[in-house]
Amino acid sequence: MSNQENIVPTASSIERATRRFAGKTVLISGGTGGQGAAHLRAFAAEGANVVIGDLRDDAGKALAAEIGDQALYTHLDVTSEDDWAAAIAATEERFGPLAILVNNAGIPSPAVLIENGELTTWQRILDVNLTGAYLGIRAAAPSLRRNGGGAIVNIASMAADVGIAYACSRAPVASRKRNSMVRGRHASP
Ligand SMILES: NC(=O)c1ccc[n+]([C@@H]2O[C@H](COP(=O)([O-])OP(=O)(O)OC[C@H]3O[C@@H](n4cnc5c(N)ncnc54)[C@H](O)[C@@H]3O)[C@@H](O)[C@H]2O)c1
Repeated sequence: MSNQENIVPTASSIERATRRFAGKTVLISGGTGGQGAAHLRAFAAEGANVVIGDLRDDAGKALAAEIGDQALYTHLDVTSEDDWAAAIAATEERFGPLAILVNNAGIPSPAVLIENGELTTWQRILDVNLTGAYLGIRAAAPSLRRNGGGAIVNIASMAADVGIAYACSRAPVASRKRNSMVRGRHASP
């Protein structure tokens, strides 16, 4: 093979390069939001089956219709164990076991002085941003194992070091302890 042949992409190398996720199934929570929808479109362009999990049913169905047959929308409140179980079941029924979970759903903190903060707001942020990711990992783990392995992507934030409730919800998600939990080194939270 000449040097020229080594550097000029062939049809088959382009096919490999542009369909890196062909045959793999990806579930993205908060999939109708800005980043989630961008991730979904990128995965779909690379050949993945994509599952959109979100609270916003109309937006989720519209996004699934836009992407086409390789997309499925499922209503998912990440704070609900039942919703996670239903999302994984719907994913497997349509596409088979899950290869990639992206814990992307999240809500921001309101900008208020700490003494004006509401306990219900603190709890909601931790429920969605932190517990939601934990519930997702827990629900997806058996499906990822049935797939023969896979990946979990936890979207955190550089703001994990700044602020109050949002930071406290994001710092643990950024922590690598999540990985050891998935590997089964810890039997419980
Ligand atoms: N935008 C940023 O600058 C930024 C920076 C760092 C990290 N992040 C994180 O990235 C992720 C996506 O951010 P974004 O900017 O796309 O936000 P976004 O507000 O555009 O999207 C968030 C999505 O999460 C969904 N969602 C909210 N609560 C939910 C729940 N209980 N169950 C399921 N879905 C729920 C919303 O419906 C929405 O579709 C978030 O986790 C956010 O914390 C964002």
